[in-house]
Amino acid sequence: MRKITDPKELQELCLEWRRQGMSIGLVPTMGFFHAGHLSLMDHVHPLCDRMVVTLFVNPTQFGPSEDLNSYPHDLENDARLAEKHGADILFAPEADAMYNPDHATWVQVPELARGLCGRTRPDHFQGVCTVVTKLFMLTQPTLAAFGQKDWQQLAIIRRMVQDLNIPVEIHGRPIVREADGLAMSSRNAYLTEEERACAPGIHAALKAAEKLVLEGECNAETVKNFIRTRITESVPMGRADYIELVTPDGIKPVESISGPVLAAVAVYMGKARLIDNQYIEV
Ligand code: PAF
Repeated sequence: MRKITDPKELQELCLEWRRQGMSIGLVPTMGFFHAGHLSLMDHVHPLCDRMVVTLFVNPTQFGPSEDLNSYPHDLENDARLAEKHGADILFAPEADAMYNPDHATWVQVPELARGLCGRTRPDHFQGVCTVVTKLFMLTQPTLAAFGQKDWQQLAIIRRMVQDLNIPVEIHGRPIVREADGLAMSSRNAYLTEEERACAPGIHAALKAAEKLVLEGECNAETVKNFIRTRITESVPMGRADYIELVTPDGIKPVESISGPVLAAVAVYMGKARLIDNQYIEV
């Protein structure tokens, strides 16, 4: 595995691979790998001639009071894991190599970015879209994989790729969970022992809501209140940022459930903000 920090070097190598007719799979990450990241690599590796894993804690997707400077990292261990899981390149640039001081170009999908996480993180998805576009331009991937835990991010990237005719296949991959149901996230490292013990209550509330809907409840407000009550009971130190039912592709609020719906939540717990979701196939 080759470690690259220079965007130009990455681009030249990937362009050369594409000229030679090779397919390239991309796994964009912010590092501190857990089984969710590794499952993306294991999915992409057999599908492509070359796999590029990127590790970049992208400053433009963090708000001013967010955790950019404390985001967990362990580059040495990440490099070992990426190599073990088949990466040909680990691209880990510095921020100033990715953004010129006069950077002025932004990619946005405002319609899908307004709700859910966009409400409390107004510039987040603009940062994500911009860096993902840059990573696409640098790596020329034939396919790129993203986790479904960040469902809104995935929906936005799919729409961006469609609208801008970017020639890449987007693969959304299932959420990987701890044995007790907690969705894996690098930010779980922020949880205290007490917070970690009750955090699986978030997934449990979403699963219970799925059951409620599948048993016939179609009033979204009732389902949201049900999730809120469950989370309040089982995750007492949590504070919900949002609890929403939205259309899975358009991320539009749903009032009456008559088709597939996404139940999505974000919960503040101490230093962490945990997100999770449940796709409900009605
Ligand atoms: O999901 C993430 O880790 C990030 O948002 C991504 C896609 C790597 C862009 O920085």
